[in-house]
Amino acid sequence: MKIYDANKIIPGLLILVGLFTFPFLYNIGGAAPAPKPELPKEQKTCVQSLAFMKAGHMQLLNDWRDQVVRQANRVYVGLDGKEFNPSLQNTCMECHTSKVKFCDQCHNYAGVTPYCWDCHIAPKENQ
Ligand code: HEC
Ligand code: HEC
Ligand code: HEC
Repeated sequence: MKIYDANKIIPGLLILVGLFTFPFLYNIGGAAPAPKPELPKEQKTCVQSLAFMKAGHMQLLNDWRDQVVRQANRVYVGLDGKEFNPSLQNTCMECHTSKVKFCDQCHNYAGVTPYCWDCHIAPKENQ
């Protein structure tokens, strides 16, 4: 006696496998969704213009480190002559309060993993 009807079960299984893998296969070859870094709600401007920050925040951080560590200069004059304490933790992360929702959004997309957080403390993430 036949316990099951292979003619029905096997196509059924194939359809199920297809349904489960479709969303993953569909993504292959397509672009991953663009990152959406969450911007500060209270502050309207960064330490420099948006275009400058997009292209040059890595260089700016390097310059900040050099001016603090090599020149012991803790005043940075930014956009519109505003003064900032050149500090990753105490200035950047004061406005950009989530590393996960801001920095990591772009860095995961771009495939870069800055090693800064080995030493510098990222803000506590509140879910
Ligand atoms: C006073 C608050 C403040 C500080 C301090 C600050 N940011 Fe910003 N940042 C902002 C705001 C607001 C924007 C969006 C600016 C706009 O739309 O013109 C922004 C934009 C950016 C962007 C571009 C984001 C995008 O969507 O393209 C990057 C990158 C960035 N900031 C990194 C940094 C880094 C690194 C530091 C420290 C060197 C820093 N920010 C310090 C408020 C700040
Ligand atoms: C709008 C997207 C975006 C945001 C937001 C952003 N970054 Fe970046 N960051 C990038 C990209 C893209 C690179 C790689 C650039 C390259 O390789 O030329 C990068 C590179 C860096 C580097 C150099 C790392 C390396 O290995 O070369 C540092 C340091 C850095 N980001 C710090 C930060 C910090 C700190 C924040 C959050 C305050 C931040 N970034 C937010 C896009 C972003
Ligand atoms: C091996 C540990 C270590 C690593 C990794 C590291 N730093 Fe630092 N950084 C320090 C120390 C120590 C100081 C000096 C602290 C001071 O004098 O306030 C400093 C100072 C700085 C400063 C100025 C002071 C401040 O409060 O932020 C900046 C900006 C900075 N680092 C950025 C970076 C960036 C960007 C990266 C990653 C590309 C990085 N650092 C990686 C240890 C580290």
